[in-house]
Amino acid sequence: MTRQRTLAEPFRIKMVEPVRMTTPEYRKQILRNAGYNPFLLRSDDVYIDLLTDSGTSAMSDRQWSAMLLGDESYAGASSWEKLETEVKDLTGMHYVLPTHQGRAAERILYGQLGGKGKVFVSNTHFDTTRANIEFTGATAFDCMSDESLDIDLELPFKGDMDIAQARQYILQYGPENVAAIVLTVTNNSAGGQPVSMANARQVRALCDEFGILLVLDGCRIAENAYFIKHREANYSDKSFREIAQEMLSISDAFIMSAKKDALVNMGGLLVLRDKKLAEKCTNLLIISEGFATYGGLSGRDMEAMTVGLQEVFDMDYLHYRIKSTEYLGKHLQEKGVPLVKPFGGHAIYIDAKNFYDHIPVHEFPGQALVCDLYEQGAIRCVEVGSVMFGKYDAQGNHIAPKSELVRLAIPRRVYTQSHIDYVIDVFDDIIENKHQSTGFKITYEPPFLRHFTATFQRL
Ligand code: F0G
Repeated sequence: MTRQRTLAEPFRIKMVEPVRMTTPEYRKQILRNAGYNPFLLRSDDVYIDLLTDSGTSAMSDRQWSAMLLGDESYAGASSWEKLETEVKDLTGMHYVLPTHQGRAAERILYGQLGGKGKVFVSNTHFDTTRANIEFTGATAFDCMSDESLDIDLELPFKGDMDIAQARQYILQYGPENVAAIVLTVTNNSAGGQPVSMANARQVRALCDEFGILLVLDGCRIAENAYFIKHREANYSDKSFREIAQEMLSISDAFIMSAKKDALVNMGGLLVLRDKKLAEKCTNLLIISEGFATYGGLSGRDMEAMTVGLQEVFDMDYLHYRIKSTEYLGKHLQEKGVPLVKPFGGHAIYIDAKNFYDHIPVHEFPGQALVCDLYEQGAIRCVEVGSVMFGKYDAQGNHIAPKSELVRLAIPRRVYTQSHIDYVIDVFDDIIENKHQSTGFKITYEPPFLRHFTATFQRL
C-alpha cells in the first residue's frame, strides 16, 4: 500500500505542556478508585485526553496577545464591543448575550421558552440541552431518520432532522405548545454528523408553516460549513464563513458554546433576532450570569473569543481539522474497529456494541471500552450510549438507547499526528485483549446527566 502523504500541522509550536506517561498497574488502581468513571480522574494521570473537544483548544499567539488588550470594565468594555461587532456580523442577528458557556445560554433561553406542557423538537438534543429543557418541565423529542441512525450507512448529511417526524410531533402536541425547533450543527450526539443547508431550509419552512422559533445550536458551525462546502451542490465556491452566515440568516436564535468553534477555553453566546425575547433573556442574564456586556466573561475572554471566531473559518485550519479527524478514523477502520461512518468533524465514534459484542448493553460495553483505553493506553474518552442516555422503565428495567458508542473527541490544535499514531497503536492491544474485557454495573447515579458522576463496579 502506498503511504498516505503526511498531513502536516498548519501551525508550529511556541509553548509546550509536558504530559506524563504512567504504568498500566497504576492506571488500573486509580481507575478503580475513580469508580471506573474517567470524568473522576485527575488530568495529570491522562496521557492523551480525548474526553472532549470542548474548552480544550490551544489558542493562537494572536488570541493570547489579544488577551492583553482585555478591558475589564464592568459595563461597556471595549472588549465587549469587539465581540458584539464580530458576532453581529457573523450571525446577522441584533441581540448578543455573552454567557460563561453554552449551557448557561441554554438555561436562559429554554428557561424562558420552556415549562410544563411545552415541547421542543430537534434533530438531536445534546445532553445539556435536553437536561435544561427537561429541568423546566418541558419535553424534548429527537427526530432522526432510520437511515441516519444506521451507523454503517455512508450518507453525506447524517445530522439532518427528519422533517416528517418533526411535523408529526408538531401536529400531535399542537404548534402552540412547541416552544422551539432546535437544529444542532454538527449533530454531536448523533456522531458529529453534519446538517445540510437543504435540511436547514426545510426546517425553516416547517417553522414558518407553524409559526415556531428556530434555534440553531451551532457550537460546531464552522466544521459543519466545511462539510457543506465539500458535500453539498452549489457551495464549493462559497467561503466557510459565508456558508455559516447563510445558515444563521435563516435562524431566529443562535446558541453557541464558544468552547468549540470559537477556539477558546471558556465562553458562550446567546444571540437573538427578537427584541422582546432578548429583553426577557437579558433580565435572566443579569440575574444569573453578569451584566449584559460581559455575562460571566472577563474582558480578556471576550478578546480571545473575537479572534477565535475569525480564525476558525481559516481554510488551512479547517482543512487540517477535518482531515486530521479523518486520519484517526481511517486508521482505526483499517484495523477493523467498527466506526460510525462517515467520520464526523470533531470526533470519531466507535460502535462499542459491535466491537465488544460479548458484553450485553445493560452491562455497558461502551464504558468497558472507555475503561480499557484508559487502563491500556492512558487515553481518556467518553461513552455515548446506555450510561449517558439509558433510562429505566416503571419496573426499573434498563431501557437502552439505539446505539452504544464511544467518542474519541479531538481537541483543536492540541495533538500532533504522532500523538494520534500513538492512539492508533494502543488499539492493537485493545483488539488483542478485547475478549477478556468485562462489563459493569452502576453503584451510584445522580438523577440528571448521570455519566458525569456515576460510579461503577466491574463484573
Ligand atoms: N450544545 C452542543 C451541541 C454541545 O456539544 C455542547 C457541549 C453544548 C451545547 C453545551 O455547551 O459545554 O459550553 O455548556 N458539548 C461538550 C461535549 C460538553 O463534550 O460535547 P457547554
